[in-house]
Amino acid sequence: MIRFTHQGHAVTLAPGEAFSLPREQGFRDTSTSDLVALVDEIEAGRPWREAVHTRYAAAKPWLHRIIGEPARTAFFDRVLPPDPGLTLDIGAGWGQTCRPLAARHPVVALEPVAERLAFIRAAARQDGVAGRIACIGADYFDVRFETRFATICVIGVLEWVGAFQNHADPQQRQRDFLRKVRAELVPGGSLILGIENRLGLKYLLGCPDDHLGVPHIASLPAPLARKHWAQTGQGPLQAFTYSWPELQGLLREAGFTRIEFFGAFPDYKLPEQIIAFGDHGENLNAWLAANEVPAEHNGYDGSPLPETFQQSLQHRYRTLAAAGAAHRFAPSFFVRAG
Ligand SMILES: C[S@@+](CC[C@H](N)C(=O)[O-])C[C@H]1O[C@@H](n2cnc3c(N)ncnc32)[C@H](O)[C@@H]1O
Repeated sequence: MIRFTHQGHAVTLAPGEAFSLPREQGFRDTSTSDLVALVDEIEAGRPWREAVHTRYAAAKPWLHRIIGEPARTAFFDRVLPPDPGLTLDIGAGWGQTCRPLAARHPVVALEPVAERLAFIRAAARQDGVAGRIACIGADYFDVRFETRFATICVIGVLEWVGAFQNHADPQQRQRDFLRKVRAELVPGGSLILGIENRLGLKYLLGCPDDHLGVPHIASLPAPLARKHWAQTGQGPLQAFTYSWPELQGLLREAGFTRIEFFGAFPDYKLPEQIIAFGDHGENLNAWLAANEVPAEHNGYDGSPLPETFQQSLQHRYRTLAAAGAAHRFAPSFFVRAG
């Protein structure tokens, strides 16, 4: 049984059950009507992979890859604890983590956007794992868990938790989020985080960032990034990523003491290589000195980067690795922290 209060009301959920009080505003990578129609098709019996392929393979190829590529679960073997135990997947999205994980372990999927949660449930029913996933349709900040989790997955979510709300400064919201996650782990439990690196080499060399879709803003120190984004007239900056030392600092401040970093190439979404840093980045530097990195892409729309850009990344990784510094410029991180 999963026990929590939602905005003060006590709730108990068994595996396979759902609680839903989702919110209107939220992260969307396709329209609500599009996703509702997709869920209807799946519930009418069309295999979900086929329905997703028909709808997005040509029209939204990057989204299609993000939803279904096997690489989405590559971190299971490299970063998840061998026996993750009861796992909370915060910001479960299209179910890329919770659904495959549920084949082996009990999972709680928490996702505030109603139609995304409906997709997770419909796809999980077809895959025969719905009975192993407890679903919560709510904002994580509105839920206070009494249950404690052995593992909490936060994949592509920390950068967004400050957005779609106006109660708090977005970066304060990120700090509060990490503190809450720390408090809801069992002693010895692990946070598993996937996020882009503010100082990823490709961003420093002018590749658009994955959240704003423009170059040379998200990679700036936060106060400058806020200022430059405000000057574009698109409202205040709400999505923030961090460098290795910044993210370490946030995790320590939240109470984490065991913090292991991994470099993810080309990124944490579709990783082909996940390499543990070692205490000071030495493992990743040794790997980068001896190996070619997989081709990187524009993380906003998935388009390939020009061959000359790719070559210049490769040369610079090598140079930085020789100086013992390339780990600081990995495109994305996975983190295992407790
Ligand atoms: C970029 S998507 C990542 C989805 C999925 N984890 C993945 O790996 O593809 C970010 C997700 O975080 C969710 N999210 C954002 N703020 C949240 C919050 N305060 N509580 C729970 N989920 C949140 C969004 O609804 C969205 O599904």
